[in-house]
Amino acid sequence: MLNEKVALVTGAAAGLGRSIAECYAKNGARVVVADINDEPGEETVRRITEAGGTAAYFHTDSSSEQENAALVAFAVDTFGRLDIACNNAGIAPPSTPLAEVPTELWRRTLSIDLDGVFFGIKAQIPAMLGNGGGTIVNMASILGQVGFLGLGPYVAAKHAVIGLTKQIAVDYAAQGIRAIAIGPAFIKTGLEKALDPDSRAALDSSHPVGRMGEPDEVGEVVAAVSSDTWSFVNGAYLPIDGGYLSR
Ligand SMILES: NC(=O)c1ccc[n+]([C@@H]2O[C@H](COP(=O)([O-])OP(=O)(O)OC[C@H]3O[C@@H](n4cnc5c(N)ncnc54)[C@H](O)[C@@H]3O)[C@@H](O)[C@H]2O)c1
Repeated sequence: MLNEKVALVTGAAAGLGRSIAECYAKNGARVVVADINDEPGEETVRRITEAGGTAAYFHTDSSSEQENAALVAFAVDTFGRLDIACNNAGIAPPSTPLAEVPTELWRRTLSIDLDGVFFGIKAQIPAMLGNGGGTIVNMASILGQVGFLGLGPYVAAKHAVIGLTKQIAVDYAAQGIRAIAIGPAFIKTGLEKALDPDSRAALDSSHPVGRMGEPDEVGEVVAAVSSDTWSFVNGAYLPIDGGYLSR
């Protein structure tokens, strides 16, 4: 499905990013694994290589414009081109009522969850234009569509990521660039391990399907939408949410 493609994934040392990187590789792409956390990032590369895929690791702080540019340069130097970029790195701030959010927390969340996506896009588009186009997948959330108690900075960032995704389509579709925003509901990437049984049950039942998602239920879909069979889908928001937003 992705044979001959070169893909990069930010925040690929854990959780959804690791699953996306593995699913890209499983489907034939050569993958650049980017993260701020080196040892588990290199572990993602090891897992891909041991499964017969091709991957390389590059240390990247997604909140840095320069490091996003260096990441794209690394992908082109290492594998010759860039076809697919998944801007996945993100953090969730501690739950805080909006009027009590410290400015530092607001800026830190936005610097990774929004600036990081913008800096990624800014570096990725020129490289993709150089080889006739490409696909950008931005990691939004159900919280890019609705609010959630105490998560103001995150909700604001994810809504903006969906806006940026539409803007890529408007500005660059004619030049062969496609963008999709992905909207997972709650996925088991570790956060659920800290929950007590009651909170866990409440979170499960907030999804009409009655459970949280598995990382590969996102990774497999991201790999699919990154393939050329999705060529007429551009600027879209795609929920992967077990029906969460359908209530
Ligand atoms: N897990 C969910 O329920 C869920 C739901 C919707 C959206 N998302 C989004 O999916 C993305 C991944 O979430 P996750 O649950 O896999 O998180 P996670 O915490 O399991 O993994 C996040 C990864 O991003 C990396 N990272 C953090 N800051 C970084 C930075 N400045 N530069 C580069 N890498 C950085 C971390 O080291 C980690 O490897 C995030 O954007 C998150 O908002 C997650």
